[in-house]
Amino acid sequence: MLTPPPVTLQEELGRGSTAVVWRAALTEPVAELPLGAEVACKRFHDDPEARACYAREAQVGEAVVAEGLIRQYAAGEDDEGPWVLMELIPGRNLAEVLAEERALAEPLVRSIGRQLSGALAALHAAHISHGDLKPENARLDQSGRSVLVDLGFAGAEGAWDEAARGTPLYLAPELTRGEPLSPAADVFSLGVVLYELVTGSHPFITTPLRSSARSSRAARRLPQSACLQSPPFWISSSRARCTETPASARTRESSVIA
Ligand SMILES: Nc1ncnc2c1ncn2[C@@H]1O[C@H](COP(=O)(O)OP(=O)(O)O)[C@@H](O)[C@H]1O
Ligand SMILES: [Mg+2]
Repeated sequence: MLTPPPVTLQEELGRGSTAVVWRAALTEPVAELPLGAEVACKRFHDDPEARACYAREAQVGEAVVAEGLIRQYAAGEDDEGPWVLMELIPGRNLAEVLAEERALAEPLVRSIGRQLSGALAALHAAHISHGDLKPENARLDQSGRSVLVDLGFAGAEGAWDEAARGTPLYLAPELTRGEPLSPAADVFSLGVVLYELVTGSHPFITTPLRSSARSSRAARRLPQSACLQSPPFWISSSRARCTETPASARTRESSVIA
C-alpha cells in the first residue's frame, strides 16, 4: 500500500548515495511523538539498490533500539519511493566535523568511541552488523551525543551481498575480499574512524593521498610511519586492536576504548 510519510518536509539535512534526509514536522502523532514534533525523514531514491537499502534499514531499525543507534519511528513507501522517519539528530556528521575541525579533543573522541561501541554492541547482540561505519554515518550534536545512522548496508551476521558493500576506506580487508559481514568488521571500521578523529589522518593513508585513494587494499600497503603526525599511544593501541588481521584476533567492541 502506498502511504506518504506523515510529515511536512522543511530543509535538507544531508544526503548519501541512496537517499536524502530532511528535517520534517509531523502532521499527525507517530509513536510517542505529538503532532508537530520534529523528526528526520529519509527519502530513498526510487531505484533497486536504494530500495534494497531501504528494506535493510527498515527491518534493522525496527528490530534494534539502543542508545547510540538511530531510533526509527516509522517506515513506508509512496509513489516517490520508500521513506523512513527517525529521530532528528542535530549537529553534524563526523565527516563534516573532520572537514571543519581537522581533529577532535581526545576526551571527546573517547566519548564518541564509547557511544558508537554501545550502538555496535546492541546490533551485534542481535546478530546484526552495521556494514558501513564511516564518518558520514555517525552524527555528533552540540552536547557531545554521538549517534550511529544509516542502516542501509546492515545485515545479519554472516550475510554476504556483493551489492551491499561499505566504503573502501573504512572497510575491513576481509570484506573487500568478499567475506560475509561480521561484528569484527564493524570494529575495524570504528578503529579507523576514531583514529582519524584524534589525528586528523586516516591510519593507513596520508591526507594528500586520501582523496585519490579509493581502495583500502592500496591504503594498507602504506606503512604506519607514513602518518602525518605521531598519534597518542592510546589511540594507536586502540587502532591496532581494532584492525588486527585475522579478524578473529581483533578486540571486541566493548574494549575499543580501553
Ligand atoms: N536522523 C538523522 N538526523 C539528522 N541527520 C541525519 C539523520 N540521518 C542521516 N542524517 C544525515 O544525512 C546524511 C545521509 O544519510 P544516510 O542515512 O547516511 O544516507 P545514505 O544511506 O544515502 O548514505 C548523513 O551523512 C547524515 O549526516
Ligand atoms: Mg550514509
